[in-house]
Amino acid sequence: MQCIRVPTARDRLLDPMASEWSGVAGEAIALGATPLANQPSEYVKASRNEDDVGKVRNVMVQTAHDGNEIFIRLSWEDAQKNVEVTETNMFPDACGVLMPLNGDDAPIDEMGSQGAPVNAWYWRAGAEDEAHNMVAHGLGTTRPAASATIEARSVWGHGAWSVVFARALAGEPEAAVDLAPGRSVRIGFAVWEGSNGERAGIKSFSKEWRELALQP
Ligand code: HEM
Repeated sequence: MQCIRVPTARDRLLDPMASEWSGVAGEAIALGATPLANQPSEYVKASRNEDDVGKVRNVMVQTAHDGNEIFIRLSWEDAQKNVEVTETNMFPDACGVLMPLNGDDAPIDEMGSQGAPVNAWYWRAGAEDEAHNMVAHGLGTTRPAASATIEARSVWGHGAWSVVFARALAGEPEAAVDLAPGRSVRIGFAVWEGSNGERAGIKSFSKEWRELALQP
């Protein structure tokens, strides 16, 4: 997966609907249910059926950088826009990306491990776009990590979400993957379908890491 370098203004790249995105080649990534066996909560294990987990099975991914910031655009079909908790089983739609913080051996299906942490970027639908930088050392350990600012913009229309994440390329080793031009990093993707009661560990995800190469 190529992250091309573009001369485009940041306010255009941050806009999920900007015409410039139609010139950035994308990759359709297949998503699957998170395994029930990996859910750290006994309640979740007992109350969910794996066949009903991970309603969104495809996400289109496009990426670009301008030498200072990286922009990652995720889009997926979703007939129902969910922006709030409306009933006990309804949650906001959301998406995220995952990258190993150091080394290549972090397990994607357990959100890293004690020795191989991962960096997650998290966007959640709401009145205002909320985006968070997070670190996990395996299941049940996901925590916000304040040291990097993730911005996100989203648009829902014609039965689909389009979300752009933006972050400065340079990152702190403990809590934010360093994304220098010319580097290659591993990356994974996840989508939560709010109308299907999806939140936290209940979601669909890319079952294998992809290699994201940042154009020098
Ligand atoms: C590329 C794949 C993945 C991404 C991008 C990702 C991203 C995230 C993010 C951003 C959160 C915080 C959301 C919140 O606060 O509600 C989270 C939480 C969580 N995720 Fe993942 N995740 C991925 C794969 C998985 C897999 C395969 C599992 C296995 C069941 C899993 C289990 C969990 C659990 C249980 C939580 C709740 C917090 C915790 O217990 O640590 N994730 N994930």
